[in-house]
Amino acid sequence: MEVLREIDQVNTLISEWTKNGETIGFVPTMGYLHEGHIRLIKEAKKENDKVILSIFVNPLQFGEGEDLDTYPRDEEHDRKAAKENGVDLVFLPTNETMYPQSLSVNMTVTKRTNVLCGKSRPGHFDGVVTVLTKLFNITRPDNVYFGMKDAQQVAVVDALIKDYNMPVNLIPVPTVREEDGLAKSSRNVRLSDKERRESPSIQEALQYGRRLVMEGQRSKEFIIEATEKFLEQKTRGKIDYIELLSYPELEFIEKIDRPVILAAAVFYDNVRLIDNVVFDHE
Ligand code: PAJ
Repeated sequence: MEVLREIDQVNTLISEWTKNGETIGFVPTMGYLHEGHIRLIKEAKKENDKVILSIFVNPLQFGEGEDLDTYPRDEEHDRKAAKENGVDLVFLPTNETMYPQSLSVNMTVTKRTNVLCGKSRPGHFDGVVTVLTKLFNITRPDNVYFGMKDAQQVAVVDALIKDYNMPVNLIPVPTVREEDGLAKSSRNVRLSDKERRESPSIQEALQYGRRLVMEGQRSKEFIIEATEKFLEQKTRGKIDYIELLSYPELEFIEKIDRPVILAAAVFYDNVRLIDNVVFDHE
């Protein structure tokens, strides 16, 4: 396994691979790898000759007061996990490598963004599409792997790739969960014991909402209210939002008559957790 920090070095290696006709799967991450990330690597491994993993805590996608400085990091663990799972190249750039000077051309996401997490994190998805455009250009992948844990990110990347005719396939990968249903996240370590015990109720509440649709309920308002009540009874975390939108367009709908996402974000003392279910009404 190669571990490279410089773009020139990555270029040389990838040119060799593509000369030999080898396909490339790319898994972008911010590190502190857990089974969710590993699942993406495993999917990439199945479908490509070479797998590239990037680890870069992208300052552009963190807002003021967010956890850029305290974002968990463990390079040694990440390298080991990457190696064990057959990654061919870990790209570990520094801030200076990715952003040697301020950008002269900025990217702004105008759709799929003023809802869910995008609403409370202005500029977040601008930072995400900026770093991904750079990373796609650096790694030249055939297939890119993203987790449905961040379903809005998948929707935004889907739009990025289509709007700009990027020659890559987006492969969404289902959310990996703890045994009790909590979605795996690098930030879960910040839950207190009590919060940790309550946190699976987020997914339970979303599944409850989904069941209501399956049983014939079609009113968005009814489902959101019922999901909220369910969740409030099960956790003392503060609900940031519960939303039901069309997917992947992320548009407001009143009546459920197409594929939708039911998503929630909950504040605990030291961490905000997100989760979702994406489903069709039939
Ligand atoms: P990060 O939060 O490190 O996540 C990297 C990838 O792992 C994302 O595609 C995310 O959806 C996926 N992932 C995280 N937890 C998961 C889980 N429990 N099950 C399945 N997949 C999971 O998302 C980012 O980094 C950044 O925004 C990035 C795309 C790297 C751009 O900076």
